[in-house]
Amino acid sequence: MFNLDDLVRPNIKRLVPYSCARDDFHGKTGIFLDANENPFGTLNRYPDPYQRELKAGISRLKTIPAENIFLGNGSDEIIDLCFRIFCTPGQDKALTLSPSYGMYEVSASVNDVKIIRSPLGPDFGINYSDLKKHFSDGNLKLIILCSPNNPTGNCLDAEIIERIVSEFRGIVLLDEAYIDFADQPSMKDKTLSYPNLIVMQTFSKAFGLASARTGMAFANTAIVEYFNKIKPPYNISSLNQKTVLRRLGKPENYLSQVNKIKQERIRLTREIAKLPGVVEVYPSDANFILTRMMDAGKAYEYLVNKGIIVRNRSSLINNCLRITVGSRAENNKLLNTLKSCK
Ligand SMILES: Cc1ncc(COP(=O)(O)O)c(C=O)c1O
Repeated sequence: MFNLDDLVRPNIKRLVPYSCARDDFHGKTGIFLDANENPFGTLNRYPDPYQRELKAGISRLKTIPAENIFLGNGSDEIIDLCFRIFCTPGQDKALTLSPSYGMYEVSASVNDVKIIRSPLGPDFGINYSDLKKHFSDGNLKLIILCSPNNPTGNCLDAEIIERIVSEFRGIVLLDEAYIDFADQPSMKDKTLSYPNLIVMQTFSKAFGLASARTGMAFANTAIVEYFNKIKPPYNISSLNQKTVLRRLGKPENYLSQVNKIKQERIRLTREIAKLPGVVEVYPSDANFILTRMMDAGKAYEYLVNKGIIVRNRSSLINNCLRITVGSRAENNKLLNTLKSCK
């Protein structure tokens, strides 16, 4: 039987959470003399610590109950909170696929948690037999999967993900930062049937709000309660809550941007493959394209000198650039510049 409390760090279970003024009084009107705020101005009040209005909007858009939603100061905060809730420093371990998003390892190091790297198989898929052999490690508390994966761009096999979730006795954090660009559906609804699954999404990519630092976690209510218990009380500013809420009100805007980016991804994938110095363009389900070059370092420097900044990912995958899909004009500039890179 899965028991969440068995996985939670003892100090987190014992923790008495900070109780802020807005925990004691929920009303919106009155004379507020309870939070040592300044009575003057328009940004003088602390924001709603539980972002109720915003969660109601997200709940409608994602068709998932608001009580199953947690919001972080970007997904990066949620990753860190997972380590803090489930992994005892100096003792527990987390597993990530390799290569994958760099913040998993950084957060693990900050929390003094050992990382196990499970190498991706051919075509950047999960190597299930390699990963499964770690299930019996009693100190392995957290498996982090990223689909579509950064920097490889591909979706992971949903059936294998579900197998991992059902067979692993710890927590699976599935990072779907790029899912809006994929044809594969999100697995967020599975969080309602699997008590050990957390699915994470973000407003930074498809919604174009990287600057508003808002990430979402979908999970069962027991996990959401632990997130709320340890988060800084006012982790999403009122400016950011309002900005995201406004964007939610016009879903057609973000959907049309996602469509444009997907169209451009198809064109870029096709056109980059024709260029000199390009060895392979990997298929992408995200808003970036991983490209193997004859000499990625040289191509990177050439592009930087022409004012075009891509990411050299050669330290993770030999001779590979990760190229974000830009606007049509930006992509044309990239293609023309790469054409002249001899
Ligand atoms: C896979 C993945 N997850 C999460 C993030 C960070 O998201 P956020 O801006 O919500 O912190 C990124 C950013 O590049 C990412 O690539």
